[in-house]
Amino acid sequence: MSERTLVLIKPDGVQRGLTGEILRRIEAKGYTIAELTMTTATEQQLAAHYAEHEGKPFYRPLVDFMLSGPLVAAVVEGNRVIEGFRSLAGSTEPTTAAPGTIRGDLGRDWGEQVQKNLVHGSDSPESAAREIEIWFG
Ligand code: RTP
Ligand code: MG
Repeated sequence: MSERTLVLIKPDGVQRGLTGEILRRIEAKGYTIAELTMTTATEQQLAAHYAEHEGKPFYRPLVDFMLSGPLVAAVVEGNRVIEGFRSLAGSTEPTTAAPGTIRGDLGRDWGEQVQKNLVHGSDSPESAAREIEIWFG
């Protein structure tokens, strides 16, 4: 059974001109890009997308960062793609994300209140369904 995940190329990735490189890595891994759009997020989309983080110290900086410019949203398909894309992305902090991953190779810590780490990937089938509805519903 093929699976779908929601990938965001965050505003730092778009601004740094890494959209092509990130999509290249997804395709080179063998996953299929089923939907793709460039958009500027709304407060409402981000409130829904990041509801689990409301109240955390990085929440407002995170929302402001995600509003800072256009982002690319994609639905990516393949067997075990939720787990597979999280593996391609690497861990949350670019400083310690493994080399070979998107965050490890292309990201760094900029000393800000939020980690600008280039990409988002859904973390479970339930999150994927919820997030695909937010960005493509
Ligand atoms: P994502 O949801 O974006 O795929 O990333 P994640 O699961 O690896 O990270 P999560 O814990 O869900 O946090 C969401 C995003 O918030 C920013 N963040 N900054 N202490 C910090 O500076 C901090 N902690 C989290 C990151 O952009 C992270 O991806
Ligand atoms: Mg997350």
